[in-house]
Amino acid sequence: MKLFDSHAHYWDQRFDDETENGVDDLLTNLFRETVGGIVNVGTNLETTMLSVRQAQTYPFMYAAGGIHPGDISDMDSLDALEKIWTPLFQNPLNKLVALGEIGLDYHYTPFDKARQMAFFEAQMALAEKLSLPVIIHDREAHGDCFDMVRKFPNVRGVFHSYSGSAEMAKALVSRGYYISFSGTVSFKNARNVKEAASAVPKEFILIETDAPYLAPHPYRGRLNHSGYLLHTAEAIAQIWQTSLDEVAEITEKNAKAFFNL
Ligand code: NI
Repeated sequence: MKLFDSHAHYWDQRFDDETENGVDDLLTNLFRETVGGIVNVGTNLETTMLSVRQAQTYPFMYAAGGIHPGDISDMDSLDALEKIWTPLFQNPLNKLVALGEIGLDYHYTPFDKARQMAFFEAQMALAEKLSLPVIIHDREAHGDCFDMVRKFPNVRGVFHSYSGSAEMAKALVSRGYYISFSGTVSFKNARNVKEAASAVPKEFILIETDAPYLAPHPYRGRLNHSGYLLHTAEAIAQIWQTSLDEVAEITEKNAKAFFNL
């Protein structure tokens, strides 16, 4: 049985700093053991290029790139957005399978809502132009993220590490969106997330680590990696009342369909 991790950040320095033999040793072992695929996600131009480089090293690793709402301090990059990113996405050697992560984050105050919106909207427009799926980061910004989705009916995407309501998840799926669950679905107090996971049709569900963040129960607070995805898959198996094998099979099939692999 192998699991597909639809969202992780292996360029993060923590993987070299906090593992015994470094990130390459970790990834080699993960692919040998329980991991069938990883989408390595960038959050700005620099980390996207690091994601690409790692994806080029491992046959079953792919890359995604975009400007995260937490990485939008450089306003100039908005003007040059299309010019810089288009050739990156158009080069198949880069293995870039989605535009993201992009979106809105209202967690840390103060935040610049207008600027976040401007970057989000410009990148949705670019995704539409390049016919790319998007990976959406929605932290405490459910209403505004949903409005943006409605503004671009031709764009399809995934809401990563889903934290919205079951209702919104159903409304997103009716628009062709996928819902990705991270380790938070394994937390005991995560009633809303569990409800969303049971409300959405199985064909629209992905699983992810968001490593190095969001380690699942019982590793909460530790350095996360794709080996721990097993615990997230187990939580989904419990919600679906099915086997781990079936969760692995369905979510891998969904990831391949979503990312066009
Ligand atoms: Ni992430």
